[in-house]
Amino acid sequence: MQQPHLQCFTPSCRAHFDITDVLYNCPKCGGLLEAQYDFSSLSAPALKRTWRERRMSNDPLSNSGVWRYRELFPFIADEAHIVTLREGNTPLLPAPRAAHYGGLDSITFKHQGFNPTGSFKDNGMTAGAAQARRLGMKRVACVSTGNTSASMAAYASAGGLDPLIFIPHGNIAYGKLSQALEYGAKTFQVEANFDQILALVRVLAERLGIYLLNSINPFRIEGQKSIVIEMMDQRDWRVPDWVVLPGGNLGNVSAFGKGLREMRDLGFIDKLPRLAVIQAAGSSPFYEYMRDGAKPPFKAQEHPETLATAIKIGDPVSWPKAQLEIESSGGVVERVTEQEIADAKATIGAAGIGCEPASAATLAGIRKLTAAGIIDRAADVVAVLTGNVLKDPDYIINYHTGKLRAPDKSPIHPTFGNAPIVVPNDADKITELIG
Ligand code: F0G
Repeated sequence: MQQPHLQCFTPSCRAHFDITDVLYNCPKCGGLLEAQYDFSSLSAPALKRTWRERRMSNDPLSNSGVWRYRELFPFIADEAHIVTLREGNTPLLPAPRAAHYGGLDSITFKHQGFNPTGSFKDNGMTAGAAQARRLGMKRVACVSTGNTSASMAAYASAGGLDPLIFIPHGNIAYGKLSQALEYGAKTFQVEANFDQILALVRVLAERLGIYLLNSINPFRIEGQKSIVIEMMDQRDWRVPDWVVLPGGNLGNVSAFGKGLREMRDLGFIDKLPRLAVIQAAGSSPFYEYMRDGAKPPFKAQEHPETLATAIKIGDPVSWPKAQLEIESSGGVVERVTEQEIADAKATIGAAGIGCEPASAATLAGIRKLTAAGIIDRAADVVAVLTGNVLKDPDYIINYHTGKLRAPDKSPIHPTFGNAPIVVPNDADKITELIG
């Protein structure tokens, strides 16, 4: 039986490396890396039963909506290295009014904002932190638009590692910055954008022997596969027509695609859902690359701009993996404006669900894709809400009070605005106002 190993993702290279090598790119060709396993002894029907039984258990790893499914990412040799905050276990929420807005008969949100630190990053970070501990690392680092740093800070601190965080100065939502500080991370606000800081952090990681926990780390991707595994388990293995998600650095779509292909190859599911990645129009290098024929070289966007700061990324590292997943699932890439994101976000909020701006790109994208006839009105669609509504409260207040401005300073119309009303301490006046 072949041991778990790292493999270069570049088709012409495919070099193998040890699972405990500290690598983020292939030393031979510079390509991305991914974890590979020998799954030949797995039985899909038996595992489906085991995973159901684990939901009834009080064992911490069975409680985790990530590690419950560990047989599909068996890279950790010793479970003692795992740090769990009971991540995953995120709900599938139907939302009829949001479906109507998106031009669909029905929609289901897989809400990753229910995670311990409020975003889908926890699914990957529990895996990355486990690998860091297994490698005997002391310090871990990441560059982040906010959620990765919040998640890394929590998992590193919970696991006895020192978190070092690098964020673009002034471009991260307060909910996320507050988390990094509160979870005890040493936090550096750098006068540069995400893409420039990633290059900086890679130099520092090498120089200081710090373990890098950005999504270029292949173990983060392994953990994030659990989002689609749990989704399929919750749906009793009925494959949706579409899975829609926002795209920034493109780690998540890479993880979804790998997880889904592995589940199909192992007989857990009989086909792949189509993947739809939605980008903000001001930060849409992957959209442009795919639209223009998907032929390398990939053209990075030098000055990405969007109020959805989570996906404000011009040079997404995982684009080769994302391209494979879009092409092999018959997927699409779409882009949406700031106004479209804002109105979709308020619609998700008014459904009692709520999410952060980047997550709302999903519903805005679905609305465009149904209008264009690409997604059928009767389609079975799961949209992944990647972050919690409280991550970016400034955005919410500004939208509802009509003060939200796009990066180019143009006003965003509060189509579904719901401003607070200032009233005197007077029962008669308030009665009159309520009507
Ligand atoms: N949605 C949210 C809320 C995010 O925080 C991110 C990425 C994405 C979507 C995009 O996911 O990068 O895998 O394509 N946030 C990263 C961060 C970059 O640093 O927190 P992706």
